[in-house]
Amino acid sequence: MAKIFVTRKLPFWGEVSKPLLDGGYVVVVSDKNRPMDRRELETELEGGYDGLLSLLTDKIDKDLLGHAQNLKVIANYAVGYDNIDVKVCGEKGIKVSNTPCDEVNESVAEFAWTLMLALARRLPEAAEYARNAAYHGWEPEIFIGADVSGKTLGIIGAGRIGSRVAKRAEGWGMKVVEYSRSSGLKLEEVLAQSDLVSLHVPLTSETRHLINKNSLGMMKKGAILVNTARGPVADEAEVAEALRAGMLSGYGADVFENEPSPYAELLQMENVILTPHIASATVAARKAMGTIAVRNLVEGLAGREMPNLVRAQG
Ligand code: DGY
Repeated sequence: MAKIFVTRKLPFWGEVSKPLLDGGYVVVVSDKNRPMDRRELETELEGGYDGLLSLLTDKIDKDLLGHAQNLKVIANYAVGYDNIDVKVCGEKGIKVSNTPCDEVNESVAEFAWTLMLALARRLPEAAEYARNAAYHGWEPEIFIGADVSGKTLGIIGAGRIGSRVAKRAEGWGMKVVEYSRSSGLKLEEVLAQSDLVSLHVPLTSETRHLINKNSLGMMKKGAILVNTARGPVADEAEVAEALRAGMLSGYGADVFENEPSPYAELLQMENVILTPHIASATVAARKAMGTIAVRNLVEGLAGREMPNLVRAQG
């Protein structure tokens, strides 16, 4: 019977892994409650597994795959799969899948809005002020923020998640402008018009540092930028510089260039919100991600088409 390795204990695993147990697969789950380091992963994969359930913290490249002689299927527990060298997997005949689904789309879209609204209304600063008992009575001048109603939202990457972020803007009577491979607008046009910009592109060689000194310079003065995509889509040092210069009024990031450590200066800035890659951390999304990863393993190991097979990106 096929052997599967799961690189970390996952939420709702008892529930979502049922098809693996019912199918009689031999399933080994890492006993470490942390990402496995490189050496541990290499050693484990030498155990001759047929299937691998990987996380976005597992870097799966040519060297690592050299330790996984029997591997046929990798189910990545994320929508993004920039942690996997899919091209090399293809050359080795290893199939790779991800976990796109409505649940993740909705929870990430909600989270992008959580960051945008919190920045516009200076929520972290105000909450800190109240928590520190600095509030002694209503004051007309404190924490004056910005409305989002009637403003323009720029979506960079109008795919499954970006389009849901856009949909939610209707409720605030916002104008939405979108930049994607197929949209009519250029990046420059979208950035120049937007009061708030939300990033939703996958990380590829084309999108790495898409947000840099040059593109930040195209943005409206005082705009808010939010990144729930992948950290390296934005050059954090250049974002920090734009914040310092007042070109941006706020930056919200759920993902960092070098996770888990954000660019140090961002940690000191009041108009920055940094969260630990939790945009999809809802019960519904996590259950769906586990269910989908398991389904892909089962289908792939049975030699059938994986429902969420992915191909190498640019
Ligand atoms: C994804 O799915 O790619 C998120 O970043 C983690 O859920």
